[in-house]
Amino acid sequence: MASEPTIREPIISCDNLVKIYRVSDLEVMALQGLDLRIYPEEVMAIIGASGSGKSTLLNILGGLDEPTAGSAVVADWNLGRLTRKQRLIYMRDVVGFVWQNVARNLVPYLTALENVLVPMILCGKADRAWARELLEAVGLGHRLHHRPLEMSGGEQQRVAIAIALANRPKVLLADEPTGALDTKSSRQILEVFHHVSSEYGVTVVIVTHDRSMSYAVDRFVQIRDGKTSTETVRRRPLEAGEEVVQDGTSHDEYVVLDSAGRLQIPPEYREALGIGDRLSVEMEDDKIILRLPQDA
Ligand SMILES: Nc1ncnc2c1ncn2[C@@H]1O[C@H](COP(=O)(O)OP(=O)(O)O)[C@@H](O)[C@H]1O
Ligand SMILES: [Mg+2]
Repeated sequence: MASEPTIREPIISCDNLVKIYRVSDLEVMALQGLDLRIYPEEVMAIIGASGSGKSTLLNILGGLDEPTAGSAVVADWNLGRLTRKQRLIYMRDVVGFVWQNVARNLVPYLTALENVLVPMILCGKADRAWARELLEAVGLGHRLHHRPLEMSGGEQQRVAIAIALANRPKVLLADEPTGALDTKSSRQILEVFHHVSSEYGVTVVIVTHDRSMSYAVDRFVQIRDGKTSTETVRRRPLEAGEEVVQDGTSHDEYVVLDSAGRLQIPPEYREALGIGDRLSVEMEDDKIILRLPQDA
């Protein structure tokens, strides 16, 4: 986990990832050369304002969409060059998905247990004991035979996590998984993500615009205009039931450099100091000092 001294190989690497959508004769550059590393068994979040490219990134990592340029590699699968058949195997066996829209994750007329069996049946092996174990792992051992309508939104979302884990994926991708839930249910969902990650060694990537959610994970990366801008790391793992603080005492924040060494100065700093498009750069001992130019 996070404190291992050995050099860890990332399970997910994005290098200079670009995604351009063409709508009639307009181009939208949703990802603008994004670099990102995610490590095995992390529970991490990607945060950013609406339209910053979060879902685009997650859809690429999930094999649902292809990058326009750059590379995305997940568990040794190069997502830029998959055949149709490889893409299907990848989506079925390597990644699991949880969507914000609770109803989209479940078949309404099947029980929780049957819902978890569906992806297994598609792979030709319905393992009821494993389905039951997964539902117990997400805290729903007492709801095996309930249908979605007989469960709360939070419970349905926990079934969705069990479904996503049915084929023992290496990576779990969740797009705004708590977007439709109250604070208490959201917190339970987060605890489930931590639990299944440590229990089954799965890497969890959560996309959210909810700050309190991001402060409850081991690490979160902010995206802005289709690029990563800052990275915030928890000093120690959150304990079950511990209150989430957002005052900076539990986390260290870093600005990230892209592969060419460029960094992004947060807009609030640029505004506060009246920074235009140039700064002077000096190195002093172990510091790099950025200053407004003399003529500014
Ligand atoms: N299928 C698509 N076709 C055209 N433009 C899209 C499509 N999906 C997303 N976009 C555009 O790409 C940008 C990033 O969108 P998205 O990844 O959905 O952001 P987020 O999930 O952070 O809100 C937005 O400007 C959005 O309008
Ligand atoms: Mg989105």
